[in-house]
Order: sequence, then C-alpha cells, then structure tokens
Amino acid sequence: MNRDAAVLSLHEVAVRYPSGTVGLEPTSLSVGRNCLTVLLGASGAGKSTLLRTLNGLVRPTAGEVRHTDLGALHDRATLRAHRRRSAMIFQQHQLIGRWHALANVLVGRLGAYPGWRTLLPMPETERRRALACLERVGLLDRALDRCDTLSGGQQQRVGIARALAQDPELFLADEPVASLDPGSGRRVLALLREICRERAMAAVVSLHQVEMAREFADRVVALSAGRVVYDGPPDGLDDTLLERLYGRAALDEPAD
Ligand SMILES: Nc1ncnc2c1ncn2[C@@H]1O[C@H](COP(=O)(O)OP(=O)(O)OP(=O)(O)O)[C@@H](O)[C@H]1O
Ligand SMILES: [Mg+2]
Repeated sequence: MNRDAAVLSLHEVAVRYPSGTVGLEPTSLSVGRNCLTVLLGASGAGKSTLLRTLNGLVRPTAGEVRHTDLGALHDRATLRAHRRRSAMIFQQHQLIGRWHALANVLVGRLGAYPGWRTLLPMPETERRRALACLERVGLLDRALDRCDTLSGGQQQRVGIARALAQDPELFLADEPVASLDPGSGRRVLALLREICRERAMAAVVSLHQVEMAREFADRVVALSAGRVVYDGPPDGLDDTLLERLYGRAALDEPAD
C-alpha cells in the first residue's frame, strides 16, 4: 500500500440543496492516506456539506466523486462499498447511553455482517477486536461501564473506538471536539492524528478552533461561502486568511 495514496477525489463537485441554497461551489480536491486534513470556515461555509459529500451522505448536483479503487460513486452498490470503508463521527457521538462502551463499539462491526447475522450474539473474535479498539483509545478499564456515566471526552473516545472497529480507510469527523473543554479536545485530536499515522488512514475533520488546526493538521482546507479559499499547510493560516474566513472581529479575540 502506498502510504500517501489518494483514497478519494472530487472532480468539480457542486452541491445545491433542494431549497436552492448552495452548499458547495464546484470543487476539486483529493484526500490521501496518512494525512489529517482539517476543514475550517465560518458557520455555513460548507464544512459539513463537504464532509458528507466525501461519504455519499450528500449527493453532488454536479461533478463526480471517485474512489481510487472502486471508481465513480454513481450507483448504490459502489456507494455502499465506499461507506463500508469509511467511518464518520459527529459532534454528538451518537452512542446509546444505557449500553456499556463495549456494546457501543460492537455496533461499529454490524455493517460487516448480513442483516440476519446481527440477530445472533457477536462472535468472540469481534468482542476481542472491540476491546482492542477500546484499549487503543485508553478506555479498556471502562469497557463495561454505561456510556452515560462517562465524561464527554471519554464518550467521544468511545465514538472513535467504534469508528476504528470498522477498520476504515477514510475517517470523517464533523466538529468532534465542539462540546469538549480545550484539554479534552486536544487529547481527542492528538489521538486521531496518531491513529491516522498508525493505520495510514485518510482523516478529514472539521473544526472551529483555529489554534487546534495549527497544532494538529497536516493540511488545512478553508472554506468560505461554499468555496475552497485555501488548501495547504497550517502555517499558511495568516491574519489575511483568518479575516477572510471569520471577519475582522476574530483577529481581536484571544486564542482558546
Ligand atoms: N439539509 C440542508 N438543506 C438546505 N440547506 C442546507 C442543508 N444543509 C446545509 N445547508 C446550507 O448549506 C450551506 C452550508 O452548510 P454547512 O452545514 O455545510 O455549513 P458548515 O460550514 O458545516 O456550518 P457550521 O459550522 O454551522 O456547522 C449553508 O448555507 C446551509 O444553510
Ligand atoms: Mg457543520
């Protein structure tokens, strides 16, 4: 496997919602393995639209999304195959609070089985695999604790363990640290970056915290009004670009 190979590429992809709102202007970019890409931009800039386009949750109204191995994501079978190879986590980690952490992680494995199989208990190999994922995020000792007894940062780490259990090649996260204090947020992003390197995954994460993008991103894609206005290393995030993204007031605010 080429550790930096592109997993997915967008070719002049545009999204217009049925309401007529433009979510994404025609955009071409590719996401490669072994790279943590951070999406930045003000509210409404198109970060979630771009993330959702990457795993087919939003269908482009123009252009083409191509998976390097599977080809164009036009038909349902290709889209399904792509979704099985990608994992997404959200701001609210969408865990089942009254289930323990291990059961939530096992949910990540259900996609690997036909529907009828999910009615039977999961095989022991799957439990071991899920426990290994919890161990990777530092929560093995909490495996049998109900998720609603864990802190926000711990719950987000269970969400990451569940995503890892899918063994994805593409990891997508929409504001994964938005509801966490800066310390917990940093731990989650540091973990994501480490895992991205270990597994040579492509990871795309949207953030509102510019300082965290500077600290953790390998690549920053900045959006404004549905358009990519910057695509490069985090040290290109200068005052001119930040003012363009967030307005003058953002420059006067202290960093988090
Ligand atoms: N389901 C939808 N139907 C109609 N318009 C939508 C939908 N989702 C997003 N939009 C619009 O598309 C544009 C981009 O929205 P998007 O959610 O991608 O922005 P964002 O950068 O993720 O913002 P935020 O930081 O607030 O999450 C906005 O104008 C938004 O109102
Ligand atoms: Mg969003």
